[in-house]
Formats: sequence, C-alpha cells, structure tokens
Amino acid sequence: MWESDGGLLARVDKTKMPRHVAIIMDGNGRWANCRGLLRNAGHVAGVKTLKNILKTAVNLKLEALTVYAFSTENWKRPHTEVDFLMHLFSDYLEREKQEMHENNVRIKFLGRTEDFAPALQKLMRESIELMKNNTGVKFNVAADYGGQDEIIRAAQKLAYRVKAGELLPEDISTQLFEDELDTFGQPPVDLLIRTGGELRVSNFLLWQAAYAEFWFTDTNWPEFTPEEFIDALVDFGKRSRRFGTLNN
Ligand code: IPE
Ligand code: IPE
Ligand code: MG
Repeated sequence: MWESDGGLLARVDKTKMPRHVAIIMDGNGRWANCRGLLRNAGHVAGVKTLKNILKTAVNLKLEALTVYAFSTENWKRPHTEVDFLMHLFSDYLEREKQEMHENNVRIKFLGRTEDFAPALQKLMRESIELMKNNTGVKFNVAADYGGQDEIIRAAQKLAYRVKAGELLPEDISTQLFEDELDTFGQPPVDLLIRTGGELRVSNFLLWQAAYAEFWFTDTNWPEFTPEEFIDALVDFGKRSRRFGTLNN
C-alpha cells in the first residue's frame, strides 16, 4: 500500500472535496529546456509527478481523477517525441499496474485506441481487466484524446441508433449523449487544473468541464507537488458554484 501523506491531507475540508478532478499535465518540455535537457527528460520527470499525484488522490479517497496524457493533436509532434511518449506510456503501465491494483485504483482510458501499437493496446486492455472490480479512485488516462473527437464519436453512435430505428432524433437528451461519452457513468468534472502556465483548455473534456472550476499554475508539471495539488483543492473549497442559479 502507498503510505499516507500525513498532515498534508488534513488541510482539505472533506465536505468541500471535488468528486472529479481533471489535470492538463503541461510544461514537461519547457521544464527540460530550462535545465539544458532534452524534452524527453521532461516527460520522464513528469511520470514521477503523476505517480505522486495519483498516490495523493488515493489517500484523499478522491472519486475520479482524469489526466491528459496525449491529445489527438500531439500526433503532429516530431515522430521521435511521439515514439518516446508511446514507450513511456507502455513502461508506465507495465511497471505501475500491479501497484495501482493493490491500491484499489480502477483504471480507464479516454480517447481513441486504434492507432496505438497492438502491444500497447493489449497492455491497456490487461490493465483495465486487472482493475475492473476495484472500488477506489477512478483513474482516467486520456490518451489519443480530444474533446471534439469524443463528441463526434458519441454523435455518430447516436446517429447509427437513429438509423437503426432504435431512437427518434428527439429522444436524444443530455443523459443519452453522456452515456455515449468515454466518461459514461462518471461524475462531471468539478475542478480542472492546468500546469505549465498556459490559460487554455486545449481540447480537453469539453463536455464534462461545462461547469468545472478552473485552477491554473505556472508550475511546470515535473515540479508540481502534492502540496500544490492540495492548494488547488483548498481553493476549490472556497469557490461559490452557482450553476446558473442565484444560490450560494
Ligand atoms: C505535456 O508537456 C506533455 C504532453 C503534451 C505529452 P509538453 O510536452 O506539452 O511540454 P511543453 O508545454 O512543451 O513545455
Ligand atoms: C495539452 O498540452 C495536452 C496534454 C497535456 C497531453 P499541449 O502542450 O499539447 O497543448 P498546447 O499545444 O499548448 O495547447
Ligand atoms: Mg505543452
């Protein structure tokens, strides 16, 4: 089992915890460049951060954590970097899956999978299978993920159901649409964190973040700590969420 973060967690008011936190893990390349290292060294360092943040999420008993690992647009990077990221992703799953399982984590992948190497796709399926009965943190890894792509795939599935005569166009509701998204059955995103200093959403969880609170930091992902993660959660607890109403 992962050891507890001790006093750190005590800062969070459990009654004001988000159910679902999403993170755009950005700034790996810049972190490396600042140190005269290759961008890939930043990705390696970023994996260590991810492990620490997942551990904190487990200790906090967070319901769902979604991380943006690779976007549909990231294929446009030089193929050496794309290849490196693919290998890192495989190594991470291979190395961490058992420990995640022992910590009751339930892994899921958001996005397309068909363009990944067959061996990686197999590893993804095995990881899902291994953890499928776990009841702890729902850990969603968005890989070859784009919010627009996810919405289009959902729309296509519904269009086929209409074409097959299973549904009428007017039957399509928010709920029915959500059921076709990669995050089906999970709560909407309450808190969206972006590291690395950019103030944009970069095609992440466009539907699910409809009423998310945003939290941005200049810290590059390799330097993001459990302490700063807790800062974000504490700040979230102070937000007044109105969802369009006049309450709070
Ligand atoms: C985020 O870091 C990781 C991925 C997109 C895979 P970047 O690689 O985007 O790092 P910067 O933004 O160039 O510093
Ligand atoms: C978003 O970061 C994608 C991931 C963190 C995986 P990018 O670095 O790709 O986003 P842009 O290009 O700065 O918008
Ligand atoms: Mg970036």
